[in-house]
Amino acid sequence: MPDPACQAVILAAGKGTRMISTVPKVLHAVGGLSLIGHVLRAAAAAGIARPAVVVAPGMEDVSAEVRTRCPDASVHIQLDQRGTADALLAAREVLTNHRGDVIVLYGDTPFIRPETLQQMIGALDGGANVAVLGFVADDPTGYGRLICDERGNVLAIREEQDASPRERAITLCNGGIMGFRCPDLLAMLGRIGTANAKNERYLTDIVGIARSDGLKVVVVTCPESEVMGVNSRQQLATAESIFQARARTRAMAAGTTLIAPETVWFAYDTVTGRDVRIEPNVFFGPGCILEDEVEILANSHLVGAHVRKGARVGPFARIRPGSEVGAGAHVGNFVELKNTRMAQGAKANHLAYVGDSRIGADANIGAGTIFCNYDGFNKQVTENVPADALALGRAEQQVRLGWAERFRARRGKRTQDQPARGGINKPRNTV
Ligand code: UD1
Ligand code: CA
Repeated sequence: MPDPACQAVILAAGKGTRMISTVPKVLHAVGGLSLIGHVLRAAAAAGIARPAVVVAPGMEDVSAEVRTRCPDASVHIQLDQRGTADALLAAREVLTNHRGDVIVLYGDTPFIRPETLQQMIGALDGGANVAVLGFVADDPTGYGRLICDERGNVLAIREEQDASPRERAITLCNGGIMGFRCPDLLAMLGRIGTANAKNERYLTDIVGIARSDGLKVVVVTCPESEVMGVNSRQQLATAESIFQARARTRAMAAGTTLIAPETVWFAYDTVTGRDVRIEPNVFFGPGCILEDEVEILANSHLVGAHVRKGARVGPFARIRPGSEVGAGAHVGNFVELKNTRMAQGAKANHLAYVGDSRIGADANIGAGTIFCNYDGFNKQVTENVPADALALGRAEQQVRLGWAERFRARRGKRTQDQPARGGINKPRNTV
């Protein structure tokens, strides 16, 4: 098979010890999608096919996520986590015969834009041997610093722990994405040593090596928000807030009204139409589509829901995966739908659980209805309800006059002077 013009390698073998988690770092989610899922989407959007992903032994769940999101990716194992250069060498197999561009991405840097990746590829196609993605950090703590000469040419990248106080004051940092077009990339990687604070082989050392070989190294820059890395729960929360700010802006730009944007939480793939109105405190998990003129009222939670034109959901509604709310349909307060398709104009306005079912057009699910006779295959309201029928599942009311008094007398625990207990009266018409 011919080599793709650009080979992407995504490094994801680091365990992310600062996350304090049994879940590998790159599987932590932002906007309902794993960090590595975001990176794979960006690579695909930049037109980079068949990425190679480097994982650690035992990270089967990361491999599975990669294969789900990107079936043509190859997965490579880095046996020991001895640094980012060592990780890239784990993908030696895809680099050996590759003559074109190589773009290296980090699995914990989810917000890279496809346009920026294309700029990196453009720099390589324009004659650079190495392209480094730089950014000016508000707070450079933890990032590698770009050491430049007085004319702005980058000489080397220095990791925080190896930097002198003067170097630490530099705010131009390494975003973690690098591009290479060097026929002897593998040989250069082999020359990287471990003389640093962590005793690791740093990919970033390749910049100094390329310079000493007289190769051309360029810096492409981008905003900090694109290259923020997630190393801790704190940074995961920061990433989420950056993601949500973008998602809210995108929804409003598409014609959706958010009364309190900062209280509405979107997933990476939420689609909202024109003249959609979303009230405060609404959460969307993955797989939601809101067609035009949909209203989502306050405090609703939707995952995997297709809400068709002009439908209304909430307040306090929960829509679970596999559900469809038909055009103009209503799902009201304290109603839960699961894997249920409600056709056009159907209503379930109050206090209902509607699961694994098909609700016909204009049907009305009364208050307090639950679909619960699960037989292992289907759930039904006792029986299917034909169109235009009224289905009632109530036993007939029986009134036994004087029963309570006789009961008390029988038990002998009540005395004459205790007042009679009140009955329940239906409200009377006052007119
Ligand atoms: C790295 C860069 C730093 C840059 C920062 C940007 C190096 C040496 N440093 O630092 O210059 O400013 O990213 O976010 O590259 N990984 C492996 N195998 C390993 C080690 C790491 O696959 O042996 C993977 C990790 O899973 C992660 C990525 O490489 O996705 C980066 O590693 P990390 O340890 O997070 O590097 P930083 O210290 O953040
Ligand atoms: Ca990192």
